[in-house]
Amino acid sequence: MKNIVPLSEKQLILAHILKKSREYVLAHPEIRLTKKQEEKRKKYEKRRLNHEPLAYILGHKEFYGLDFKVTPDTLIPRPETELIVELTAWNIKHGTHSKGERIIVVDVGTGSGNIIISIAHNIKHGTGNKLKLYGIDTSAKAIQVARFNSKLNNSENKIEFVKGNLLEPIMKNEICSMFHDPCSMIIVANLPYLSQKIYASAMPDVKNFEPKSALFSKKDGLDHYEELFKQIKILDTRYQILNTIIEFSPEQKPALSKLIKKYFSAVKPKFKKDLAGKWRLAVITT
Ligand SMILES: C[S@@+](CC[C@H](N)C(=O)[O-])C[C@H]1O[C@@H](n2cnc3c(N)ncnc32)[C@H](O)[C@@H]1O
Repeated sequence: MKNIVPLSEKQLILAHILKKSREYVLAHPEIRLTKKQEEKRKKYEKRRLNHEPLAYILGHKEFYGLDFKVTPDTLIPRPETELIVELTAWNIKHGTHSKGERIIVVDVGTGSGNIIISIAHNIKHGTGNKLKLYGIDTSAKAIQVARFNSKLNNSENKIEFVKGNLLEPIMKNEICSMFHDPCSMIIVANLPYLSQKIYASAMPDVKNFEPKSALFSKKDGLDHYEELFKQIKILDTRYQILNTIIEFSPEQKPALSKLIKKYFSAVKPKFKKDLAGKWRLAVITT
């Protein structure tokens, strides 16, 4: 951040203080702030100049057209992650499973709940399948924010959020054990994947403010995914896992391909690019 707050961010700060939309601010250049509002504006701009992300200052962020509360305990949702929502919703609507079959969708490392809540929103008109949606995170504070966001976006009856390490809540029968019918599972994950080197070179906005536990992973950024694959191999004997859809950093593609081969030798993963043309998602069909 140079020593000036960009105009678009100044407008968002003003809109937040006035409790109006950015469009309203743009349409009313004559607006004058009260002394109290002016003090608030200066305070917010100072925080921003100190590299604090705007989403933390304003306390919310838009993702997939929905509004999400964010706090320093949760990663700020990134636009490239919307691709997981698109792909998962497509899979639920058009996948190889039969109509009427029960499908469990598990979002591992749910953070603010942005992925699973957006999936619930995308498929709100029903698909002919019985669906059960879960979000898991190791951070109790993130789980609290995810539950708040679920209410905010009218999906609190559709999603259960649980604290746990990766898929352990399922392995320990804390969730999903009540399903006696045959059921299939889709696993989605945007787990921490920054290597030591990339984390060290991250912008101060990221490194000084977003939780390291949401960003950094050992073993060149692939430790969390390796642990997830080990758990999937065990769960695969209990559930039919239709797809595992994971987000990664573009330069990890060769190493991630190797890791997938190590755990799922018969699988040919599909890789997808994001809108910026960078490798971003892997789809593993076991
Ligand atoms: C990259 S953030 C993703 C947050 C959100 N899903 C998104 O897409 O914006 C990763 C999340 O994984 C959580 N996490 C880290 N280690 C975990 C683990 N072993 N099991 C479950 N969640 C974990 C972090 O707390 C964080 O919320």
